[in-house]
Amino acid sequence: LPGPEATALTGADVAPLLPRPDAGSDKYSRGVVGVAAGSHQYTGAAVLAVGGAIRAGAGMVRYAGVAEPVAQVRARWPEAVITPLEPGEGIEEVGRVQAWVLGPGLGTGPEALAVARSVLASDVPVLVDADALTLVSRDRSLLRRAAPVLITPHAGELSRLLDVPRARIEARRLEHVRRAAAELGVTVLLKGSTTLVAQEGRPVRVNLTGSPWLATGGTGDVLAGLAGALLAGGLDGYDAASCAAHLHGIAGRHGPLAAWDVVEALPSVIRSLADRLREGV
Ligand code: APR
Ligand code: MG
Repeated sequence: LPGPEATALTGADVAPLLPRPDAGSDKYSRGVVGVAAGSHQYTGAAVLAVGGAIRAGAGMVRYAGVAEPVAQVRARWPEAVITPLEPGEGIEEVGRVQAWVLGPGLGTGPEALAVARSVLASDVPVLVDADALTLVSRDRSLLRRAAPVLITPHAGELSRLLDVPRARIEARRLEHVRRAAAELGVTVLLKGSTTLVAQEGRPVRVNLTGSPWLATGGTGDVLAGLAGALLAGGLDGYDAASCAAHLHGIAGRHGPLAAWDVVEALPSVIRSLADRLREGV
């Protein structure tokens, strides 16, 4: 394959990149994540994405959504600051968000499109996942924006984005993840049994943590929230994606598990990497 080589990602690579609070930190400097996810039909995705961001250590999570997911997020995460949306309404003014997570459970109709347009019109980094990837596949011009974009497709979502059959992507994942990064001008995290992270001009990073236990509904939504927290914490898309894939994989190493268990495992996974760094091992 042309271009720079792929590199395997280790805990020693990840640990020094993780944001750590210090005495001067406040909730804003630690990162405010906006989550635009969930719909009348899909409320769980919103709860899981918010949870991934909170348990990753975001300074603050702001959730914007319609009534049904708002009720669920409120019930489970009193820490989240809520912006209720009327159906069809975009997100106007949400204070101090430093990165957005867009798409899990959002739906793909006109109401979802209004939310996606408004989030992508902001001037902060946006992570685009799940249903928002479907919207972007229909209209790639949505990705034309000045601030960075990180997309987090599985092979099926990448297939729609590139208009390439899924089997061809799965047979040549490295080639297609690079191609997506180059053609779309974004950072790409391609999910699967291994996770690949591509950005033009950088080596593709291969994450090998994780286990097939992660192949259960909702784990992708947790990953989106986790990566969004790292983006808001100041990492660029390439590092945020790599670190998120690594941490998520460790959190999902032992099963059987539910997506919720991945949320709950994140603090100890992050703590053990931080300890390891302090001990210099
Ligand atoms: N080995 C290791 N990790 C795996 C494996 C495997 N065999 N299979 C899946 N994973 C990991 C992926 O790398 C990813 O981190 O599990 C996660 C699954 O994420 P998604 O594919 O986004 O699945 P899910 O969370 O269920 O998504 C929910 O969003 O993308 C849509 O179509 C999807 O409607 C579904 C919804
Ligand atoms: Mg998904």
